[in-house]
Formats: sequence, C-alpha cells, structure tokens
Amino acid sequence: MAESRKVSESLTETVHMVRPNHLNAAGRLFGGILMQWMDEIAGLVAKRHTRKNVITASVDNLRFLRGAYQRDVVVITGKVTYVGNTSMEVKVDSCVEHLNGERTLINRAYFTMVALDENDHPTPVPKLILETEEEEQEWESGAKRRVMRKMRKEEGF
Ligand SMILES: CC(C)(COP(=O)(O)OP(=O)(O)OC[C@H]1O[C@@H](n2cnc3c(N)ncnc32)[C@H](O)[C@@H]1OP(=O)(O)O)[C@@H](O)C(=O)NCCC(=O)NCCS
Repeated sequence: MAESRKVSESLTETVHMVRPNHLNAAGRLFGGILMQWMDEIAGLVAKRHTRKNVITASVDNLRFLRGAYQRDVVVITGKVTYVGNTSMEVKVDSCVEHLNGERTLINRAYFTMVALDENDHPTPVPKLILETEEEEQEWESGAKRRVMRKMRKEEGF
C-alpha cells in the first residue's frame, strides 16, 4: 500500500526574535533573512512528510504584507497543502506575535519542495491524508496553483 501521512504529522512552527543583525538599512527585518527562515521551515515540513532529502524547486505568491522590527517575535508555520508525484506544496505563514498572544500575518508564500532519492533524483512522496474542511480547501487551491506552475514552466515565464 502507498505510504500516506496526515497534514498534522509534518506541521512545523519556528520562533525567531528580531535582533539588530537581522535589520536592513530602513530598520526593518531584512527580507532575505525572513526568506531564509521560511525556506528552512519549508524544508523541515517536507522532510517530516517524506522522511527523505528534499530541495526547494520554486516559491510562489511570496508577499511581504507588513514589516517586522527589532525585538518583534516572528512565528513561522509551515504545512503541506498539496502533494503531486515527487513534489509537494508547503504553505508558509509568517506572523508577528504580540504580548497579548495575538498574531499579525506579515508574509505568506507557497513553496514547491521535491523529494530526492539516494542518487539525488526526484522520488515519489507519500500521499496526504486530509482530515478537515480547511485542509480540503487548501488542497483544491493547491491543485489550481499546480496547474498555473506547470503552465508557467511550459511557457518559460
Ligand atoms: C527541482 C528539480 C529537481 C526538478 O528537476 P526536473 O528535471 O524538472 O524534474 P522533474 O521534471 O522530474 O520534476 C520533479 C517534480 O518537480 C516539479 N517541478 C519541476 N520544476 C518545477 C518548478 N519550476 N516549479 C514547481 N515545481 C516544479 C515537477 O512538477 C515534478 O513534480 P511531480 O512529480 O509532483 O509532478 C531541478 O530543477 C533541480 O534540481 N533544481 C535545483 C534545486 C535546488 O538546488 N534548490 C535550492 C537548494 S534546496
């Protein structure tokens, strides 16, 4: 039987404190640092889902919605939203967590991660078990994004 895992099995959250060395010249969290943190979590999620080596193939819809500043607490969550044959989509949300526990979304992106075998060739990923209505909706959106990605790849833009 084909391997399959629940979304919750690879759900990952990381927390970072914005420090002076993370800031750009405008005094905000440098976008490149945030992208590094996001790429790391996408890799962790994909590894947990596949239990294999993974690489980042592409990043879609990366949007900087708000800035983050020194001493802000940035919470990044990643979860698998869609799986293909050898690739999977990981949604990465970055939020600033306030003292009262509320969170403000500052960035969202969708990473396509590809699983690799011992020869560094793409290898099948486990199926995804959807348990909630939200997970089913995410799956449907993921399927649409996959069609768009394929179209962009074929047309070279
Ligand atoms: C990602 C990579 C393996 C794809 O190679 P490829 O020859 O296109 O391989 P395939 O055609 O077999 O595609 C493998 C999977 O990746 C997906 N894919 C390939 N290019 C993609 C792209 N630009 N965007 C999204 N998905 C992509 C394919 O749809 C396929 O998924 P599926 O099996 O679920 O249908 C290759 O381009 C690569 O090694 N890139 C460099 C990755 C890297 O170094 N990342 C940075 C460090 S982690």
